[in-house]
Amino acid sequence: MIRDLLIVSGGTITGTISVPGDKSISHRAALFAALANGPGDITGFLESADTDALLAALAALGIRIERTPETVRIHGRGAARWDDPEGDLDLGNSGTALRLLAGVLAGRGVRATLTGDASLRTRPMQRIVEPLQRMGAVISAREGTPPVVLGGGALRGVTHPVPATSAQVVSCLLLAGLHADGETWVARAPGVRDHTERMLAHFDIPLQRDNGRLGVTGCEWDAVAARPIAVPRDPSAAAFFAVAAALVPGAEVTLPGLCANPTRTGFAAVLGRMGAEVGWAGIDDAGAEPVGTLHVHGRALQGVRISAAEVPTLIDELPALMVAAAYAKGRTVVAGAAELRHKESDRIATMAAMLSALGVEVRETPDGVEIEGGRLRGGTVDARHDHRVAMAAAVAALGADGPVTIRNCAEIATSFPGFAATARAAGMEVAEG
Ligand code: S3P
Repeated sequence: MIRDLLIVSGGTITGTISVPGDKSISHRAALFAALANGPGDITGFLESADTDALLAALAALGIRIERTPETVRIHGRGAARWDDPEGDLDLGNSGTALRLLAGVLAGRGVRATLTGDASLRTRPMQRIVEPLQRMGAVISAREGTPPVVLGGGALRGVTHPVPATSAQVVSCLLLAGLHADGETWVARAPGVRDHTERMLAHFDIPLQRDNGRLGVTGCEWDAVAARPIAVPRDPSAAAFFAVAAALVPGAEVTLPGLCANPTRTGFAAVLGRMGAEVGWAGIDDAGAEPVGTLHVHGRALQGVRISAAEVPTLIDELPALMVAAAYAKGRTVVAGAAELRHKESDRIATMAAMLSALGVEVRETPDGVEIEGGRLRGGTVDARHDHRVAMAAAVAALGADGPVTIRNCAEIATSFPGFAATARAAGMEVAEG
């Protein structure tokens, strides 16, 4: 388990690295298994603080869960009522867990209070509260941030007017719509991850499509049979090692078993555009999600433009890509990424401060950054309790002129508890303070 301080003093990444299960898909797997009827086994489930928080919340709602080192078995309750939990449900650092669970609980008429850690309690919730209220939910979030309070009641299907640019919002509303009377329609903006739609197909739950809009109706949960779910490895975790290899000419890495869903792989295309040698192999399309192996060879990188249109496909990989930009020749411009300001930290500000502390020329814009690539010096940086900023800083340290000390990075455990050990095994010099 990573403590609050990580010191990275260089190294080179090589070899085959197995990253843990995908976080987005693990959350959906747990929720759908809990909704289906009977025991369902999940393999490849991400073991992390975020997914633990969701499982603990499900247990408090009366869902029986058994864990072995290989499997999470969830005893889905079908149409049976979920319990009103006794205390608040604490979703820790996880926006996905809170927003998706809110859709289910609103649909099931559960009375509950959803909250989380100091970071989660600053994150915007009006984006789910307002559309759920439109469906008849008794839900509120004073100040527009958690705690989110659900007061029971029944839902009616509605057509949500604005295309959602957040996968969490789309998923929350589909999950609510699957419990509503009548049809619920929601539009997913282009490029936004589609894991919930794929999970619906996996469980044979009907989903209508019309002109880019998605439609669901109230579901007969007793008729939804439990089935095994295999979670592929997380491309967002892999991205740190892909960048670590890309920025050292001659370094190479193989990342097998990754989710190769095109709504998640924009970072690999950008690394290729920057000049790294990047290729996918053995793509297997047979399951709910495409899975494949990513190979990355380091080359001299050059700055690129990352446009608004591709941002949804690499939103969580932008911290890692900003590090690649810091090592690239020339300027990199990221635009259309204002949403980064509402992640586990304000990632535009946190990344700009982190890279500046290492001597990089960075300019914040309202919806992105401009980075002039160059040399990085060692020093001390502050991850501000954001797991992806902390891991990006570790990668930034690889080619820096001196060691880099990263403070406030314990939250790496929210998505990748084995990061330091994996990085060390792959050739990075990492010490925990
Ligand atoms: C996620 C969606 C994205 C992403 C987050 C996980 C999901 O957030 O950044 O890490 O699992 O649905 P938004 O829906 O807020 O864009």
